[in-house]
Amino acid sequence: MASYNFDTSERDQVARRESYKWILGHLSRNKIKFFIMVFGTLGTNVLRIIIPFLVGIMIDQAIIPRDEDELTFYTFLILILGVVRILLSYLTIYVTNSISWNSIRDIRVEFFTKLQDKPLEFHNRVRSGDLMALATNDMSQLGFMINPGIRLVSDAFIGLAVVIILAITIDPLFTLILTPFFILYLISIRNYNREMKPISQTFQQKWSLISRSAQDSITGVRVVRAFNGEEFEKKQFLEVVTDFKKTWYKQQMLVAKYWPLLIIYLTIGFSFIVGVWFVTEGLLTLGELVSINGMLLLLILPTFIISFAVGMLQGGLAGGERIFHTMNAYDAEEAIETTYLDWPKQIDGKIKFENVNFKYDGTEKYVLQNINLEIESGKTIALVGPTGSGKTTLTKLLSRFYNYEGIITLDGEDIQNFHLQDLRQNIGRVEQDIFLFASTIKENIMFGIGDRQVTQEEIVLTAKTAQAHDFISTQVDGYDTLLGERGVGLSGGQRQRLAIARCLLTDPKILILDDSTSAIDSETEERISLAMNEVMKNRTTLLITHRLSAIRKADKIVVLKDGSIKAIGKHDDLISTSKDYRRIFSKHIDLPPISEGGK
Ligand SMILES: Nc1ncnc2c1ncn2[C@@H]1O[C@H](COP(=O)(O)OP(=O)(O)OP(=O)(O)O)[C@@H](O)[C@H]1O
Ligand SMILES: [Mg+2]
Repeated sequence: MASYNFDTSERDQVARRESYKWILGHLSRNKIKFFIMVFGTLGTNVLRIIIPFLVGIMIDQAIIPRDEDELTFYTFLILILGVVRILLSYLTIYVTNSISWNSIRDIRVEFFTKLQDKPLEFHNRVRSGDLMALATNDMSQLGFMINPGIRLVSDAFIGLAVVIILAITIDPLFTLILTPFFILYLISIRNYNREMKPISQTFQQKWSLISRSAQDSITGVRVVRAFNGEEFEKKQFLEVVTDFKKTWYKQQMLVAKYWPLLIIYLTIGFSFIVGVWFVTEGLLTLGELVSINGMLLLLILPTFIISFAVGMLQGGLAGGERIFHTMNAYDAEEAIETTYLDWPKQIDGKIKFENVNFKYDGTEKYVLQNINLEIESGKTIALVGPTGSGKTTLTKLLSRFYNYEGIITLDGEDIQNFHLQDLRQNIGRVEQDIFLFASTIKENIMFGIGDRQVTQEEIVLTAKTAQAHDFISTQVDGYDTLLGERGVGLSGGQRQRLAIARCLLTDPKILILDDSTSAIDSETEERISLAMNEVMKNRTTLLITHRLSAIRKADKIVVLKDGSIKAIGKHDDLISTSKDYRRIFSKHIDLPPISEGGK
């Protein structure tokens, strides 16, 4: 199976920008809060850096001339601005927090909804472990980026800008002398950012690998046990974790060699020495020296914080990008806009396949070729054929799980013209591989009915028809018995009967039963086939089975081989005319000879 490409480096700039726009859209959904966040961050930084600036002015204008009025004025001004800054900072953090929570909540809902609506092609391609990593790890990375990542990184840049602007008002020449340091500072941050980026990305990929690996061995635990694979699984997991540790180590090494902080210290030292010289030369006052150096000192903390906040920003952006792209992958096919027909009040259930060809996305071989098939309403057709011949696939096309070539009609209307929900709601399916949810038996039976209210009696009646009532009654809590994940605790036959009950409760007009009786013993099978005869009345049924008793009763038998229809007919005809049909049954029953001379 080709794996879905999570490598962000290959995507072009345009696609990346699109994802950033999407994130920004979420952040700015509430305009007032967004405004508070932007201007609050700006204002907090201005108020933070203006304090040493004012201290310098206070030294020159109040302390040195010993002007008590001025001193009181500046003391109060600094005090008030300090309090305002704390309040503003509190408000900004509060609002940013709220934006972060709301955005992540909305993004989670959007992500979940989109995954539910994805074509099956998507779910075939994307590993569920990767989706889990997106829903948990990438989602929280995105959250950390919004708060506090963006704020912490902007503190450093806004801080620097405010320092430069205020320094220019103090002494443009002095600022000019410091400019090379500022440029070096910015370049070193950019380089750090660049070096960190691939590491952050690998970090994420490795993390995704860990959760995928954990998921695989947890969901596959029974296979692992059956094949004594515990040691192998442990070893593999250890490898993945060790690999992850290496990336983490690399990241820490890079953080250790963090240049911007060193440059800030150099700037402060240089500025102090030159500043003292300027003061002695009378080019700068003492207060101005205190202002500039005090402001520079305030850049230390944000610069230090950038060393890991950059990781937050990159992690969040990369995570957001992955979420965005996964959400929008394989969308094109279902986005085709047509004017859908309303679902008819009364449908007969007449189905027709006309020149249908199909291959799975990403594969070369046609799995179904030139399928022409007509199923009268209320009739049962049996699909038979060797394994891999395309039986299951054919029924999946009817539910429009995939896009195909050719036309499939229902009551003469192209099924493409209906809403997907309507179509699928009216097709009942009992799958070959039955999935039960980790909830009660009752909830599992009621799964397909949506908001419709049903009584306990109705459920019991349905279960009885599906021959499931007896074994349900013997469970500890009856219909309220909790099933484990994937229905651990039920036998294959019991799961199938539950699935049949689930399907019957939706009362579909069209029924697809995929090998549904294969795991049921012959006594139950007999009972079930009696019930099924009831159930199949007035429903168009596609039955995939190799059980002769069921096939015999079918109105029509379709023999599939290598994706093509080899023969259509009744059992008695096919057994004497179709080699392919005979081959299917030759192992199980004594066939009448085609020609004389058999035993
Ligand atoms: N998701 C998929 N992606 C790619 N190929 C697939 C996919 N599902 C099935 N196939 C291929 O399509 C072919 C038909 O598969 P299908 O499941 O329809 O066979 P089947 O007749 O139902 O077999 P069985 O009797 O074993 O259930 C097989 O060759 C299979 O390998
Ligand atoms: Mg199948």
